[in-house]
Amino acid sequence: MRLKPNNSIVEATAKSTRMRVDTLAEHSPEMSPMKGFETSIPKGGILPCYYIPFTLNKRVIRRDNILEYLKDVLDPQPGNCRNRSLALHGMGGVGKSAIGRQYVNSSRDKCDAIFWISADKRTNMIQCFIDIAQKLGFISTDRRSEDADAAIIKVKDWLNVTDCRWLVIFDNADDLELLTHFWPGSAPGSILLTSKDTSAAFSPARAGVFVEPFDDETGAAVFLELLGQDNPSSNRDIPEKITFKLGGLPHALC
Ligand SMILES: Nc1ncnc2c1ncn2[C@@H]1O[C@H](COP(=O)(O)OP(=O)(O)O)[C@@H](O)[C@H]1O
Ligand SMILES: [Mg+2]
Repeated sequence: MRLKPNNSIVEATAKSTRMRVDTLAEHSPEMSPMKGFETSIPKGGILPCYYIPFTLNKRVIRRDNILEYLKDVLDPQPGNCRNRSLALHGMGGVGKSAIGRQYVNSSRDKCDAIFWISADKRTNMIQCFIDIAQKLGFISTDRRSEDADAAIIKVKDWLNVTDCRWLVIFDNADDLELLTHFWPGSAPGSILLTSKDTSAAFSPARAGVFVEPFDDETGAAVFLELLGQDNPSSNRDIPEKITFKLGGLPHALC
């Protein structure tokens, strides 16, 4: 019987079978029944693989409710290999990226691969995908010889077939049209995006959280902490008034 070439289940099964064969070939080439067989699906990938442009920071950011919700929605669950995606949306300077960084810091032990992608410009996204493809070992470090599109396809293909636990963050993804080229479909893993565009919560993400400015009390606490005066006896009247005047915007307060 001839299988229809556009049958996606058959194709996905074939892809993962090729992937397993490739991994086997990599570890014991002499045992490989398909030695020399070329496939377009990238091989295993070097794990763990973290592409994160900042260091671990234990600073408290007073966004506990949102962080707990992110963990509920995005954290990998044993045996659950579905796609999880969520958009943090809200005005510029409200602290979306700060929450994303905090979530990434709390996820380092839970994921085999974490990729932080600066999604504000096409050139930045391309550079991130090239760097990630290199880190995974899919392309050579001589990037001049590599086609950017090939790097994007290899990383996206790998996200679709790997059974490792991965988290991808698209940060400052305000242009959702631009994002579509880089979005890894409904691959089984976790995707967090931060965007000023509220519609990101419906598409491409499956869920969303609207990030609001600080209330006066929280803003005053953050402000006093920055001044090194965050003790119970500190007078909070003026910091609360300042927070109110600045609209509770972390970008203005910090
Ligand atoms: N919860 C927070 N506590 C302290 N500083 C914060 C907090 N959230 C944001 N900031 C600071 O405010 C500024 C803007 O935050 P950012 O996350 O870049 O905003 P957005 O991504 O929404 O544009 C940054 O300097 C950041 O360090
Ligand atoms: Mg941001």
